Amino acid sequence: MKVLFLIIISLFVIFFSCTEEIEIPKNNISIKNDFSIREGKRLFLYYCSPCHGENGNGSGKFFGYGLKPKPPDFTTEEFIKNRNDELLILAISGGSISVGKSNLCPPWGNTFHKEEIKFLVDFIKKIKRVPKKSEIK
Ligand code: HEC
Repeated sequence: MKVLFLIIISLFVIFFSCTEEIEIPKNNISIKNDFSIREGKRLFLYYCSPCHGENGNGSGKFFGYGLKPKPPDFTTEEFIKNRNDELLILAISGGSISVGKSNLCPPWGNTFHKEEIKFLVDFIKKIKRVPKKSEIK
């Protein structure tokens, strides 16, 4: 009876230790990219969406109305066509004035770590590639 009890207990232990194992997909690069986009999205929704809108199309609920010029529509081809990573990083770190625009987009270089600015860039690029609202929400 004792033996049976021990067997049952060890089966339980084996079962639970197996289910806790995390399966690591082979392509680590995509995990890193996924993380970056998710983090970028989190930061964007909190810090940027009041002006840029939750889906990045430039119609922020809080400040979007009074801004002239309005924040650009990140979901269009035109926006991303002429902007590479370096330009986006510069615009975010130093604000829109650092890329020769108005001073309406604040500089974020002192708020975020370089890595976080890269997360934001990765997310903004993702918005462009997947313009459907349902997919970036
Ligand atoms: C107070 C409102 C406001 C907030 C908050 C804001 N932006 Fe902006 N942003 C703007 C406006 C307005 C423009 C357009 C400026 C122009 O064209 O003169 C802009 C432009 C930009 C551009 C395009 C620059 C270019 O190359 O033309 C990027 C990229 C950008 N913002 C990123 C961000 C990110 C990332 C955040 C959050 C961390 C953010 N913004 C927060 C208002 C804002």
